[in-house]
Amino acid sequence: MVNTSLPFGWNTDFILDQIDNYGFCVIDQVYDSDFFTALNTECLQHLNEFRAAGIQNGVVSHIRSDHILWLDDTQVLAKQHRENLLALGKVFNQAFFMGINQVEAHFARYGVGEAYALHRDNPQQKNDRIISTVFYMHDIWQDDWGGELRLQDKQDHWHVIIPKPNRMVVFDSNLLHEVQVSKQQRLSITAWLRHDNEVW
Ligand code: OGA
Ligand code: MN
Repeated sequence: MVNTSLPFGWNTDFILDQIDNYGFCVIDQVYDSDFFTALNTECLQHLNEFRAAGIQNGVVSHIRSDHILWLDDTQVLAKQHRENLLALGKVFNQAFFMGINQVEAHFARYGVGEAYALHRDNPQQKNDRIISTVFYMHDIWQDDWGGELRLQDKQDHWHVIIPKPNRMVVFDSNLLHEVQVSKQQRLSITAWLRHDNEVW
């Protein structure tokens, strides 16, 4: 039975307020330690299936050097995370009429020296991504290990966000951002709350 309510610790008033004012929000202690550990284990079990994110249909892009695995329903814990995000999407719909009806997600692994250059997740609003979320799931992270998410908020201020374990950053997919060079293995689930016109 899939739990469709929000995890207990997610403070929706805070999240809505931050998204409204700044276009982004940082949430810490996203999951309890049992779920966090299980999710980390699930990700590690699939590492050999990850593929270079910068290669699509044989075309190589140099903007990013991480490796990813698109999620389907076979990763049961990551699926629960997606369900939680869909519930969050419904909260956004009520507050901001965003029309979110889908979540697409992948695991991502940045190895030593890997990065993702400045970009938007929804260039020219072409691909229906409304809200981006990144949940960090390596088991430890030190402040000098790089791999920061640099993000420009909707008031044009830049923020440097350390990818602390069990932290999630939620932001408007139109905002400019980048992943700085990582000095350690950096694991995450990136997920987009989408508005798709036809959902069957
Ligand atoms: C992305 C992205 C940010 C991060 O996958 O599009 O910008 O902190 N990720 O991993
Ligand atoms: Mn991005």
